[in-house]
Amino acid sequence: MNFKKKILCIGAGYVGGPSMAMIAYKCPDFRVTVVDINHDRIDAWNSDELPVYEPGLDAIVKKTRGRNLFFSKDIERQIKENDIIFVSVNTPTKTYGEGAHMAADLQFWEKTARQILQYASSSKIVIEKSTLPVKTAMAMEKILSSVKGKIKFDVLSNPEFMAEGTAMKDLENPDRVLIGSHQTPSGLKARNELVEIYARWIPAHKIITSNLWSSELSKLAANAFLAQRVSSINSISALCEKTDADISEVAKAVGMDSRIGDKFLKAGIGFGGSCFKKDILHLVYLCKTYGLNEVASYWESVVKINEYQQNRFIASIINNMFGTLAGKKICILGFAFKADTGDTRESPAIYIAKKLHSEKAQLIVSDPKALKNAAMDLADIKDHVKFIADPYEAARGCHALLVLTDWNIYRDLDYRKIYRSMIKPAFLFDGRNVVDHQKCFKIGFHVFPIGKPPMTHFRTS
Ligand code: NAD
Ligand code: UGA
Repeated sequence: MNFKKKILCIGAGYVGGPSMAMIAYKCPDFRVTVVDINHDRIDAWNSDELPVYEPGLDAIVKKTRGRNLFFSKDIERQIKENDIIFVSVNTPTKTYGEGAHMAADLQFWEKTARQILQYASSSKIVIEKSTLPVKTAMAMEKILSSVKGKIKFDVLSNPEFMAEGTAMKDLENPDRVLIGSHQTPSGLKARNELVEIYARWIPAHKIITSNLWSSELSKLAANAFLAQRVSSINSISALCEKTDADISEVAKAVGMDSRIGDKFLKAGIGFGGSCFKKDILHLVYLCKTYGLNEVASYWESVVKINEYQQNRFIASIINNMFGTLAGKKICILGFAFKADTGDTRESPAIYIAKKLHSEKAQLIVSDPKALKNAAMDLADIKDHVKFIADPYEAARGCHALLVLTDWNIYRDLDYRKIYRSMIKPAFLFDGRNVVDHQKCFKIGFHVFPIGKPPMTHFRTS
């Protein structure tokens, strides 16, 4: 078939795979190819068990794969053959050298730029889809223009705003698509080419354009604002627990102010995921680099409150279980960083599980989609952890249940059956406020929600 456009994405991860599947689905006359240096990932994308669990993804990949969506290991050939190249490689936090534990590690990004330069034999539009510190496009341009010749590269910024668990919905119906470009004739021409792709299914008013640097910074700022709301509500949850106020009631009252809005006001054990912490730390590092120390500490406090919230939760478990967890069996319901994903990157469950292990607790971990990742995350303590998919089996014989992911199934478990199979007194620590606390209390559990008064059957004299 003669395809109208040939699009490549370098990086077949949580963003590259789903976002390219959506373009292929919406634009059957474009050929979309996704490459990765990780060959196992490419094999998985070409198999019946995709490397990423996302509601709705399987169906779209089935419709497009082999038709106009392809997953390939041949990076050199694909760079040569495609005119529009998205780059969606990982941009983790640096773990070494200058800026360690804060700055972005741009080695994967830079390698990609060099690969494009090495293999390209015609002009290309190169699109940053990865989340990058502001001004990264400048570095990309410097690399791409380091060899003088006829080939020209236009660099655009098109950050991705999808959230895991709702990726397909977000990609199909995003709040906005942002495209940053240079305001030069060639930059604007490249920008229009990308606008045309999205315009196939996204209304024109939702496709916004800006200069390159605003686009790069908007992505970091958007994540920082979202994470800030989670830390704000979590900080208030601590005060609720001291004052008998109820965080759900407070969040409802606050969120009904149309200037504030009701989203991202769910208190819990803190945000996880591969991006919030890393992107805020990148922002903090950028601010420090520019000497904006007050701004840097303002954003850093969002991460500090997140850590505080997890430590508060752990302290509550230890204190309420009579100061010791040694030899006690603790069932963790949910290991993914949020519902509807198997992703456990930066999941609060990792930190909490390791801390409980250091208190000599025995852990039983259950999750509908994340057990494989959980086993890798806890490999260093694997002899002290059991992984059991069935929540009823997992809870049997345990002293406490911890709900660490807001999976819907945890709302409707048969908690009476679970209670009967547990050691008494049976504790329930609901780190996501998803369980019916009143009902579980009546069954006999000692219930400890987040930001609400605990419900215990112990008599205090
Ligand atoms: P990921 O780790 O799942 O995927 C990145 C992929 O890039 C990996 O498979 C890796 O092997 C591949 N890669 C690295 N270097 C390469 C190279 N030189 N050539 C070919 N492939 C290479 O990461 P992700 O979650 O998809 O995130 C990618 C970017 O998108 C990050 O910058 C992230 O901040 C951003 N982002 C992520 C999300 C999300 O929900 N995960 C949402 C929005 C933005
Ligand atoms: C987040 C953003 O929502 C996306 O817009 C962005 O594209 C993405 O990061 C990214 O850049 O990677 P994601 O991390 O997938 O998406 O998921 P979120 O829904 O934002 O949840 C992040 C964390 O915050 C989860 O651990 C979740 O449980 C927690 N959270 C969220 C709360 O604790 N309370 C809330 O009210 C909302």
